[in-house]
Amino acid sequence: MCEVYPPSEDTFLLLEALEEENLKNRHCLEIGVGSGIITEFFAKNNVVDGVDINPKAIEITQGRCKTCNIFYSDLFSNIKKKYDIIVFNPPYVSEERKFDDIFDRSWYGGKDGRMVIDRFLEEFDNFLNLNGKMYLLHSSLCNLKKTLRVLEVKGFKAKILKSKKLFFEELTVIKSERDSNSKGD
Ligand SMILES: C[S@@+](CC[C@H](N)C(=O)[O-])C[C@H]1O[C@@H](n2cnc3c(N)ncnc32)[C@H](O)[C@@H]1O
Repeated sequence: MCEVYPPSEDTFLLLEALEEENLKNRHCLEIGVGSGIITEFFAKNNVVDGVDINPKAIEITQGRCKTCNIFYSDLFSNIKKKYDIIVFNPPYVSEERKFDDIFDRSWYGGKDGRMVIDRFLEEFDNFLNLNGKMYLLHSSLCNLKKTLRVLEVKGFKAKILKSKKLFFEELTVIKSERDSNSKGD
């Protein structure tokens, strides 16, 4: 049985999108580090903090990314700073029954798949610098349109960087930043 979410299609799509961005000398935060593969990518050229609720993910990622600061935080509960970049590949699979196991919480997104995503969207802007960018992996399984609407209402513009159709879902990487033309500003 896995203890930590293994790098998967969603991980690799997110990584591919990030590799095409010019991300250097930034202060980055990864929410939900898992195996640490995304954190490790950022750590090559940036100052990186990473958090997770799974102690094993924290241990593995800290071991893999010695220059990073990896710690426990339920989303932003222990975050005290603002960042230039925030990235999240969230749990989004919907299930009628509840899953509480720490590994299951890496993929289980509640009845509509949005349990963690909605909490993340509510808060992320409080921890993002004025010109900061947020990267979010999203699945068609959990209402992409709703996420884009929430971002717009918050005064953020969003761009789809990458999409990939899988057997039962389409994965999308969203890049979002404050929209200077938005009435929300
Ligand atoms: C889909 S996995 C992604 C892991 C890794 N970033 C990747 O892309 O392969 C989601 C990760 O978020 C973590 N996670 C779930 N809920 C969280 C929360 N409320 N706060 C912080 N991390 C959370 C899980 O433990 C898991 O490691």
